[in-house]
Amino acid sequence: MSEPFKDVLTHTETGVMTITLNRVEKKNSITAAMYAAMADALQAASADASVRAVVIQGHESIFSAGNDIGDFLNGPASTSESPVFRFLRGISTFPKPLVAAVCGPAVGIGTTLLLHCDLVYAGDNAAFSMPFVNLGLCPEAASSFLAPQLMGYARAAEALLLGEPFMAEVALEMGLINRIVPPSEANALAHRQAQKLAAKPLSALMETKRLMKKGQAAIVAERMVEEGASFGRMLKEPAAREAFGAFMAKRKPDFSKL
Ligand code: COA
Repeated sequence: MSEPFKDVLTHTETGVMTITLNRVEKKNSITAAMYAAMADALQAASADASVRAVVIQGHESIFSAGNDIGDFLNGPASTSESPVFRFLRGISTFPKPLVAAVCGPAVGIGTTLLLHCDLVYAGDNAAFSMPFVNLGLCPEAASSFLAPQLMGYARAAEALLLGEPFMAEVALEMGLINRIVPPSEANALAHRQAQKLAAKPLSALMETKRLMKKGQAAIVAERMVEEGASFGRMLKEPAAREAFGAFMAKRKPDFSKL
């Protein structure tokens, strides 16, 4: 019998589905199997009338180191039905409230997925980064549109062109996150807030979210497709091969020097 899949855990209780990234030994870097599990969970949560809100969380020490680099090299996403694209479509169009708890590093998609969450609670150890350019890549998850819109162009350029990380206080000021708490309290706070949402009329929540997102829905969908095509092409180019080769050879790129 095959082992149960443990890298992503899902659990539903009193109207709230919790999706936990649970690959801490690899810094919660996300494999294709994990994207598939999260895409399936979001799809199930969307279809199940008893689920009224979803929490996405990691560990107190790490939210996510982004895409699993080995997966990138061995089996990059090739079609629109690839797990990563299913996940991105799922999270960007999820119709019910999405709450995230973020502690420790949130690299790449670890940060960009937050742009699709409705409420984000961060530990004071949270460190956000979108080092796509440093890896020879371009942004994903419609972050090339959503980050400048949220942060303003100047700060988005520091984050996306220079690939500079930013800490929780800056993320709070930008409006990427709602509140900063001690890391040991972030998951619990996200759950309390999700429970508050779950107690409200679901149709009112869903219609309010739909109306708030309406102005950007088509642009986000279109941008994710365009980014995906560029990202896939750039993955095969020398800059990305070199950066990932260095990581795999345990010569992790020093982003501050790139
Ligand atoms: N893909 C695959 N494996 C990863 C990974 C990733 N994105 N990030 C970390 N890991 C693995 C490491 O290879 C290491 O594995 P090992 O124990 O078998 O050697 C393990 O997770 C621990 O990582 P380590 O780098 O030793 O932890 P750290 O605490 O020193 O640093 C990070 C944590 C997140 C700062 C660092 O791991 C990092 O920068 N990761 C790469 C982030 C990245 O570039 N992501 C791609 C974005 S598109």
